[in-house]
Amino acid sequence: MAIFTGFGSDNHSGVHPEILHALQSVNDGYVIAYGDDEYTIQTIKKLKQVFGKDTAIFFVYNGTAANILGLRSVTDSFHSILCAESAHLTVHECCGPENYIGTKLVNIPTSDGKLTVDLVQPYLIGVNDPHMAQPHVMSITQATERGTTYRPKEIQALAKFAHQHQMLLHMDGARLCNAAAFLKTGLREISGACGVDVLSFGGTKNGMMYGEAVVFFNKDHARYFEFIRKQGMQLTSKMRYISAQFSAFLRDELWLRNASHANEMAHLLAQQLQEIPGIKISQKVEANMVYAIIPNQSILRLQKQYYFHRFNERTCEVRLMCSFTTQPEDILRFAQAIRRSMMQKK
Ligand SMILES: Cc1ncc(COP(=O)(O)O)c(C=O)c1O
Repeated sequence: MAIFTGFGSDNHSGVHPEILHALQSVNDGYVIAYGDDEYTIQTIKKLKQVFGKDTAIFFVYNGTAANILGLRSVTDSFHSILCAESAHLTVHECCGPENYIGTKLVNIPTSDGKLTVDLVQPYLIGVNDPHMAQPHVMSITQATERGTTYRPKEIQALAKFAHQHQMLLHMDGARLCNAAAFLKTGLREISGACGVDVLSFGGTKNGMMYGEAVVFFNKDHARYFEFIRKQGMQLTSKMRYISAQFSAFLRDELWLRNASHANEMAHLLAQQLQEIPGIKISQKVEANMVYAIIPNQSILRLQKQYYFHRFNERTCEVRLMCSFTTQPEDILRFAQAIRRSMMQKK
């Protein structure tokens, strides 16, 4: 029997038909390359309607580049970036920030993936000491890698703290859409409007084929970004294909439809798991992922049929992801498989 990989990651799902249609619709004829085409100009305009007219917005291929190049634009090699120890930036970007920017990442332990002013404060050390890395950016992820979301007030408090200490606030918004869907807000309301300075706005995990946007809420921070993007090998020549996708993503709120569905599926999954004795949901379910503690023997049995990540070997905590393509039947079948695995003796 083939292994079902749908709960492994939202990257495991395909491309939304409206995105595929958009790709096809810009495929005819010749247009100027590298972003000087009408599709890109119009899409950037639409994104500025969402994030604000005084923003500077650029497309890149992937989320890692959005983070690293966006941060490169505002950070020097003697700076440090403060982030949660679970941040994609520090765990899953292969020392990219350290290598590409030369910066130091300071990992802050959290219980739920969220930074708070109280958690960050003790790490604000060595300011103006030439022997020490200079804290310059706080990076948060919305929704977090632990499936939780920052409320607007929490982001505002972090932004205020950062700005009071001459730092900037960066947001990895690979799943910003899921957070907005959960919080029932717009995209700007939980980023720029709360004081975020630089945002990585994700599309790939929510129905696009590829493409992310770097959004600078203060244009001065983007002064050298075009050069940084080119040097960073992320200036795509056939830009119209990223632009067309973002345009479709915004049309009729496809981003919201997809994210709402993925979130609803995660809630259904959590509901199902909660009903199974011996399983514990270990994080709040506020986006499209569920963290649960499942007995080791069950995990081993389940993994013969299902692909998913063990987040913590010791505590048997697993991460289960949903996406815009997850179906309720997939979840019910999975819950049934878990029940069976819990009853098996050997
Ligand atoms: C929170 C977060 N940020 C950034 C990324 C990076 O995206 P990519 O794999 O497109 O580089 C991921 C991918 O899993 C992610 O989960």
